[in-house]
Amino acid sequence: MKSLFQGFNKHNQFARKSAQQFLFHLDDVCVSFGKIKALNSVSLTINPKEIVFVTGKSGAGKSTLLNILAGDLRPDKGRVLGLGGSQLFVSQVFQDLKLLEDLSVEENLWYAYDKSIYKNKKEFQEDLHELANVLGLSRFMHLRVMDANGGLKQKVAMIRALLTRPNVLIADEPTCALDRESAQKMFEVLNFYNLKRNLTVIWASHNRELVKDFPGKIIHLENGKLIYSGHACFI
Ligand SMILES: Nc1ncnc2c1ncn2[C@@H]1O[C@H](COP(=O)(O)OP(=O)(O)O)[C@@H](O)[C@H]1O
Ligand SMILES: [Mg+2]
Repeated sequence: MKSLFQGFNKHNQFARKSAQQFLFHLDDVCVSFGKIKALNSVSLTINPKEIVFVTGKSGAGKSTLLNILAGDLRPDKGRVLGLGGSQLFVSQVFQDLKLLEDLSVEENLWYAYDKSIYKNKKEFQEDLHELANVLGLSRFMHLRVMDANGGLKQKVAMIRALLTRPNVLIADEPTCALDRESAQKMFEVLNFYNLKRNLTVIWASHNRELVKDFPGKIIHLENGKLIYSGHACFI
C-alpha cells in the first residue's frame, strides 16, 4: 500500500492544466472585527485542481480567508463567487480539529463514512487503512483521541476529511504539530489525492520553511492585505 504514494512529489499539480472556470473568485473582499481589518480589499482567484498555500504571520488573515472560502463567513464588503452548487463538496480541517475526544481514532475516522459515497463498508475500510498506513496511524486505531498527542490528532483530522472524498479540501494549519517528515508525508498524500481525485487543496500555514521549496501557488497575506498571489518560484 505504502508504495502507492511513493513517487508522487510536490511538483505534480503542474501536470494538470486547470479548467476554464474558476473555483473561487474574491473581488475586493473586506472583513472587519471591530477596528481590525482581518481582510482588506482582497481580490484573488483559485482554480479547480490547484494546490494553494495561504501564507502569512499569525494574525495576517489566513483563517478569515479560509472561512470566507468555506462559506462560514460573509464579507462586510466585496463579492465572493464560487462554483457552488451540488457539484462541489468542501471538506475542512479546522485549526481546533473538531475531533470527538472520547472516541477512539478509528471511531473518529468512521464518522466520515457515507454510504452514498462508498459502494460498501469494505471500500471505505480500504481507503481508511491505506491512509492510516501511509501516515503511520495504523497502530493507534484503538487509542482514545484524548490520549493522543497533537501530531496524531492532526493526522486523524486530515484522514477523516479525505475519507469524505471532497472536491475541495480547506485545511487550516494542518501540520503545525507535526515534525518536518510527517508534514512532508501529509503533503505527499494531498498531492496524490490532487492527482488521483482532482482534489483542490487550500492549505494555510504560517510556516515559511515548509512552503519554501514548493513550486505551486502561494497566496501571501500581511495584516489582512493580499501581498502576493501566484507561483512560489516568483517570490
Ligand atoms: N472572531 C474574531 N473576533 C475578533 N477578532 C478576530 C476574529 N477572528 C479573527 N480576528 C482578528 O483578525 C485578524 C486576522 O485573524 P486570522 O484570520 O485568525 O489570522 P491568521 O489565521 O492569519 O492567524 C487578527 O488580528 C485576529 O485577532
Ligand atoms: Mg489562523
